[in-house]
Amino acid sequence: MSKLETLKMLQELYAYRSYGFTYYKKREFMPQKSNSIPNSLDKLEKSVHGCFLCALCKTRKNVVFGEGNIHAKLMFVGEGPGAFEDEQGRPFVGNAGALLTKMIENVLHLKRSDVYIANIVKCRPPANRPPLPEEANVCKPYLFKQIEIIAPQIIVALGGTSYHYLTGDDKKITQVRGEIFEYKNAKLIPTFHPSYLLRNESSKKDTYHDLLKVKALL
Ligand code: URA
Repeated sequence: MSKLETLKMLQELYAYRSYGFTYYKKREFMPQKSNSIPNSLDKLEKSVHGCFLCALCKTRKNVVFGEGNIHAKLMFVGEGPGAFEDEQGRPFVGNAGALLTKMIENVLHLKRSDVYIANIVKCRPPANRPPLPEEANVCKPYLFKQIEIIAPQIIVALGGTSYHYLTGDDKKITQVRGEIFEYKNAKLIPTFHPSYLLRNESSKKDTYHDLLKVKALL
């Protein structure tokens, strides 16, 4: 092992200690360089299941990698798994998921299995709080690799947190929703998060119009 690799490993061990780990079992460490992240979805998923790079690994029940058509033209990116998703290891399976499924089926006239659904972070933030920057930043390379492999034509950012972590832009979702941005060889369209829509019925019509734009682009 080179000096640099040893230093990186030590750095990682110190990070684990700062998260409260007092020992660790022998594990394969995640590659640090983004170009050494696996290039196939299967291998990537395996890596993510063995990821311990942030404190969310301590409280997760299941990793929620993402699911759907690996050749999808359309990809939805949420914020992070909630309690139901953590329980089942699948994205958007709770009430917000039921609404997202309706949006896909009733507005876009697609099946949920036609699209790909993922999140900014793959593990549930405690009490459903938004992911912290350090959590999103270590997890984003996995999402970016999913986007690279799936190569969707359109990415819908669900909610302000998703939009912010995808783009680095701090604008409010109300300022950017429904706009069409160029993003990583795709079009990015932010809209309201389904959980927000469940609490704010009157915003559903805005998301309906955003989805009509998505439909027109497909
Ligand atoms: N909310 C999200 O942002 N993602 C999920 O997977 C579920 C709820």
